[in-house]
Amino acid sequence: MSKKALDGVKILDFTHVQSGPTCTQLLAWFGADVIKVERPGEGDATRGQLRDIPGVDSLYFTMLNHNKRSVTINTKKVGGMAVLDRLIQNCDVMVENFGPGVLERMGITWERIQELNPRLIVASVKGFGAGPYAECKVYENVAQCAGGAASTTGFDDGPPLVTGAQIGDSGTGLHLALGIVAALYQRTHSGRGQKVLAPMQDAVLNLCRVKLRDQQRLERTHTMNEYPQYPDGKFGDAVPRAGNASGGGQPGAILKCKGWETDPNAYIYFITQAAVWHSVCTVIGEPKWITDEAYATPQARLLHLKPIFARIEQWTKTKTKFEAMDILNTYDIPCGPILSMKEIAADRSLYDSGTLVEVDHPTRGKYLSVGNPIKLSDSPTEVTRSPLLGEHTDEVLAQLGFDASEIGALRLEGAI
Ligand code: COA
Repeated sequence: MSKKALDGVKILDFTHVQSGPTCTQLLAWFGADVIKVERPGEGDATRGQLRDIPGVDSLYFTMLNHNKRSVTINTKKVGGMAVLDRLIQNCDVMVENFGPGVLERMGITWERIQELNPRLIVASVKGFGAGPYAECKVYENVAQCAGGAASTTGFDDGPPLVTGAQIGDSGTGLHLALGIVAALYQRTHSGRGQKVLAPMQDAVLNLCRVKLRDQQRLERTHTMNEYPQYPDGKFGDAVPRAGNASGGGQPGAILKCKGWETDPNAYIYFITQAAVWHSVCTVIGEPKWITDEAYATPQARLLHLKPIFARIEQWTKTKTKFEAMDILNTYDIPCGPILSMKEIAADRSLYDSGTLVEVDHPTRGKYLSVGNPIKLSDSPTEVTRSPLLGEHTDEVLAQLGFDASEIGALRLEGAI
């Protein structure tokens, strides 16, 4: 097996559901030895959630816990805490995303960790950072709402919307993974561990950075010319929902393509990038727009975005999204087909790059998953299946120095 970027790094993975597991899965893909600690008999709640095959680990679980080992430990038993202490002493990083106060109630305070292993990096996902909501439990959509995503997503005449992309959970997991790698690097100089915190609200806000940019622009100028509310609608005092407008310097829209009447995904995202405006006019058959004062400059076009996109849509409706994509790309016009999950799952190039992988599981059989989206040229990812509950308990305990009779006693106590 080839060497990996995080070879030799041991992770005590005390995570559950989605945010924490995404983080530790990435670390495992980079080569870390990730030891997932789960409650005996039950395990991570997602093992049993959204099950499609009775009695078999759900796709929710399998797709978030590749390349890990599973150890069952009951932390409410004395013997369980003894095993956990041994893990803390032997690992480089502990990752957790329990509700606020859970670790402390277990007796795993920062002071205790300092006694056991001052080199340990303790990385946490919480819903909120310090402040009025610090004690709240949080799931994905709460974070999307509290981080500014929901209020800025959707159409102006509709309610706030959450997005299908799991920016609160997986997005925070990504942030946490980066914090962990930075802390590991700092430890090479300082010799000490540290606490790493990624609150979900903060991670979502970080991903909504451009909307805070727009809030300040709005307060200064009371209008934003590239938003669909311009020029006819009204702006309030907070950044409005912008539908499918690009929100950047290059206007864009989702337009119908051939077949839209029956196919809910027969659409294309079309960007009228200033640099290729001539080509846009040529392709759609409006060459006079190249010189027409009302359309010739980006500034002038902002007053006419609705009719411009309506005219472009007349053209896109005559093509399938893939035909339109092929034609537009020959002119370097930025665009993208709206791809369904079904279409993505059939995209061979994503398999070739390892971003889509087929994995074999002993009780589930073959299933499709998303592999590592981050490619390191010297640390290729080999995706292996998620562990069964407690599959590696004996193996890991033996590595921690417990002998067979101690393991038997722990089992008798219900501690593992
Ligand atoms: N053995 C024994 N008990 C265990 C255990 C083990 N191996 N692992 C966990 N537990 C216990 C804990 O001690 C705790 O018990 P306590 O409340 O008596 O102290 C309990 O299980 C876990 O509590 P909690 O983390 O609050 O779980 P929950 O199911 O009530 O809440 C979340 C789930 C996700 C809402 C909550 O964990 C949370 O807010 N996490 C932080 C934010 C987050 O990551 N959210 C996104 C999840 S995708």
